[in-house]
Amino acid sequence: MAEFVGAIDQGTTSTRFMIFDHGGNEVGRHQLEHEQILPQAGWVEHNPVEIIERTNAVCQTALNKTKLSSDDLVGLGITNQRETTVVWDRKTGRPLYNAIVWQDTRTDRIATALDRDGRGDVIRRKAGLPPATYFSGGKIQWILENVDGARAAAERGDALFGNTDTWVIWNLTGGVNGGVHVTDVTNASRTMLMNLETLDWDDELLGFFGVPRSMLPEIKPSSLTEGYGTTRAGSLGGEVLITGDLGDQQAATVGQVCFAPGEAKNTYGTGNFMLLNTGNELVRSENGLLSTVCYKFGDEPVVYALEGSIAVTGSAVQWLRDQLGIISGASQSESLARQVEDNGGVYFVPAFSGLFAPYWRSDARGAIVGLSRFNTNAHLARATLEAICYQSRDVADAMSADSGVPLETLKVDGGVTANELCMQIQADVLGVPVSRPVVAETTALGAAYAAGLAVGFWSSTDELRENWNEDRRWEPHWSEEQRQDGYGRWKKAVERTLDWVD
Ligand code: G3P
Repeated sequence: MAEFVGAIDQGTTSTRFMIFDHGGNEVGRHQLEHEQILPQAGWVEHNPVEIIERTNAVCQTALNKTKLSSDDLVGLGITNQRETTVVWDRKTGRPLYNAIVWQDTRTDRIATALDRDGRGDVIRRKAGLPPATYFSGGKIQWILENVDGARAAAERGDALFGNTDTWVIWNLTGGVNGGVHVTDVTNASRTMLMNLETLDWDDELLGFFGVPRSMLPEIKPSSLTEGYGTTRAGSLGGEVLITGDLGDQQAATVGQVCFAPGEAKNTYGTGNFMLLNTGNELVRSENGLLSTVCYKFGDEPVVYALEGSIAVTGSAVQWLRDQLGIISGASQSESLARQVEDNGGVYFVPAFSGLFAPYWRSDARGAIVGLSRFNTNAHLARATLEAICYQSRDVADAMSADSGVPLETLKVDGGVTANELCMQIQADVLGVPVSRPVVAETTALGAAYAAGLAVGFWSSTDELRENWNEDRRWEPHWSEEQRQDGYGRWKKAVERTLDWVD
């Protein structure tokens, strides 16, 4: 009898496959990175074919390592980097262009134009999103306008669009031989093309970007008893019903069991993403947050969230490693930063992709301010960790202002939460405790939960709550004066980054 649930997490820097038991414990995993293609300043691409190869490889290797087979899985959940845009030919299965990644800013002119003639406000109202390079709509438009033959293929009905969930599911379920073209409500809510109230593609929004409806996948719930489709032999070595599909930040919210309105989590990955469950009510932010779909389980009513998306957090640490070469690995950012007591007056605002929440300024670019000759690599490392935490404070403040409820504890997860110093700084900067669960891989866990709930492997969200256990908690140590002074300087540093791009 099958006893486990599998989850594919197709992320920005890597793809992983994880297997969980009924207690939500990890039984096995495998993970592979893929290339970050940076053809020019502001452009970020992935090779969709490499992503599929990596997806197949991580599934096979994880099953081999654990000596399990597809027969041991009750269902499969898919979760993914959101917004990243793939357009491919349904007849050949070949991408028409590389995937344009969520961090890519090439569509800044498309995004800015939307706010010049009132279309921006329609997008805010219908899609819950501010016009920005971040979301998929402008990326699809760019491909249709700039890739030879793309517009004609779209008009013939041969070009298909998907975020990477859709691309992975289409390939796993057969590709050119009957692949299923679907997505879920959470992913669709990140495109600027879906109406948040009807949960369907919206013709007016499609018109803004010149996107034909025939390119778009069918929108389904995030958890589906009958499944989206069945894997073909090759990927998982056999047939498994895919019963969960949701964007990675929504999956982490589910993995952190934030099922009640008012519950929130913050995930520390390439970027940071704080989501607050607002229940069945669609709440509109007045403080720079996104309204988005949190999840929809089967026939149950949709659950919405407010989200604070931050483009660059963990990837600023990677920048220290790859572009500056001042650390050799992510963990070294902690030891280097520990060499100094404080930031030595240095503030680093890593606005590499403009600034996302709560500012939404695509004209911003990064700045390091407050330098004096006294400063060293260690101060810059510390300022990088502080930037992760100050950006999260910006978003947490916006959330409290929108919801009227002050934050009491911050539930955290994701790779950067292994950095103890960073988590201590986070507690200090916020002035509230920070709490990390035993299973820090909440993204894959959330996708497994969505898949397992669909097939009755877990009976209810209450049962899932019992799987959540705290592993580590950081209490704030800074005085109120220190906190205010530091945050005031951070805000001044943010000012310096604005109006940089014409
Ligand atoms: O919105 C982008 C987000 O989904 C990416 O998450 O963890 O792949 O960096 P991650």
